Amino acid sequence: MKFSIIVATDKNRGIGKNNDLPWPHLPGDMKHFREVTTRVTDPAKRNVVLMGRKTWESIPEAHRPLKGRINVVLTRNADYEVDEEVLLADSFENGLKVLEMEEIEKIFVVGGGSLYAHTIENPDCEAIYITEIDQTFDCDTFFPEVPEGFEKKALSEPIEEKGIKFQFFVYNKSS
Ligand SMILES: NC(=O)c1ccc[n+]([C@@H]2O[C@H](COP(=O)([O-])OP(=O)(O)OC[C@H]3O[C@@H](n4cnc5c(N)ncnc54)[C@H](OP(=O)(O)O)[C@@H]3O)[C@@H](O)[C@H]2O)c1
Repeated sequence: MKFSIIVATDKNRGIGKNNDLPWPHLPGDMKHFREVTTRVTDPAKRNVVLMGRKTWESIPEAHRPLKGRINVVLTRNADYEVDEEVLLADSFENGLKVLEMEEIEKIFVVGGGSLYAHTIENPDCEAIYITEIDQTFDCDTFFPEVPEGFEKKALSEPIEEKGIKFQFFVYNKSS
């Protein structure tokens, strides 16, 4: 099953600090994330957001599960409890398997660092959506280098919020 990755990185590919984002809340980036991961062409289908257990816990309770999308959380803890509508899996491969019963359009890996590292070299990774933030922040979690074989395309002009400049890109696998 093909899938995409979506991430926001700073200039050093930093993505997280203390299980939170390293930068102040950027509404424009959140809107972009919501739109890219929610948008479907077939209204009978939904997209999937697949994430590691720590990323799940980093989402404020009031905002999870991420609405309008099928939420899949990966954990090796068999006793882990989540809301009824959230799917759990103990590996990335089993995460894709639990989706076989669902009417889905696209799958997005939405973090965190461990899941990005696990999936970025996967041949089924067809696109990487990156918000490039033009600053450095104090980070303890990082995004891997984009492998060879992807073509970079800008999806927006540079944007500035709270004095922080960022821009949306997509890397598509070249055929
Ligand atoms: N900037 C961004 O776009 C962005 C996006 C998402 C997250 N983040 C940040 O990234 C940080 C979290 O990343 P992280 O690497 O520490 O944690 P993570 O990848 O979110 O979660 C790690 C946990 O997920 C489970 N897991 C991961 N891979 C698995 C696999 N293949 N099979 C089964 N379970 C698996 C394990 O849970 P158990 O320990 O329960 O077994 C593991 O401890 C936070 O700071 C967050 O804010 C940033």
